[in-house]
Amino acid sequence: MGKTAPEGIEEKTAEVQQNADAHNNRFESDLPAFRSCEERDLPRVMELDREAFFDPWSRETWLRELQNPIAFWLVEEVGRAVVGYAGIWTVAGEAQVMRVAVQKSLRNRGLGYLLTQALVQKAWDEGMDAVTLEVRERNLAAQKVYERCGFTTSGIRPHYYADTDEGAVIMWLYRAGT
Ligand SMILES: CC(C)(COP(=O)(O)OP(=O)(O)OC[C@H]1O[C@@H](n2cnc3c(N)ncnc32)[C@H](O)[C@@H]1OP(=O)(O)O)[C@@H](O)C(=O)NCCC(=O)NCCS
Repeated sequence: MGKTAPEGIEEKTAEVQQNADAHNNRFESDLPAFRSCEERDLPRVMELDREAFFDPWSRETWLRELQNPIAFWLVEEVGRAVVGYAGIWTVAGEAQVMRVAVQKSLRNRGLGYLLTQALVQKAWDEGMDAVTLEVRERNLAAQKVYERCGFTTSGIRPHYYADTDEGAVIMWLYRAGT
């Protein structure tokens, strides 16, 4: 992905701005910004986690994540509001996407795409050669985001998620030149 803006990001950023303007005046002059997640963000991140996942993590788990040297967590801010978060684990040159979530009421405006792009950039900045993830077969919105970011499907693990018996779609993205 390199140092230049990812393909399509300018159009998507403009789209996010328009959508944000149309839907919420609070975001009028602000585009999303990304920074490392800190302990002070945990109450908000945990709120988003509860909204997004059936198995939200405890505060103890989040604290461990923030201290985990192979884990990198980003928060996405619009204005001063944290509207999303995402994280990777970096192991042996490969980043594994752990969680990506955007505030429910702000979905489908491009925020997930920009968040995932920032996460991928973080992986490259940390010297990773590839990023991989597993996503539920029926989670088409997430798959769309990952595909837009350049991920391709390498296979499916059937019956991977016990709660719904869904398969896991395995996706990979390789750094340019690797
Ligand atoms: C996945 C998630 C982060 C995406 O965030 P988002 O801000 O809505 O993402 P974007 O707006 O950038 O893109 C969503 C895309 O999915 C599409 N989409 C939404 N619902 C869809 C559906 N049911 N079927 C197909 N596509 C769908 C949207 O049209 C959009 O595509 P487009 O940009 O081509 O129009 C968000 O849905 C979320 O937080 N989900 C709950 C947590 C989760 O499942 N995380 C992923 C697994 S770790």
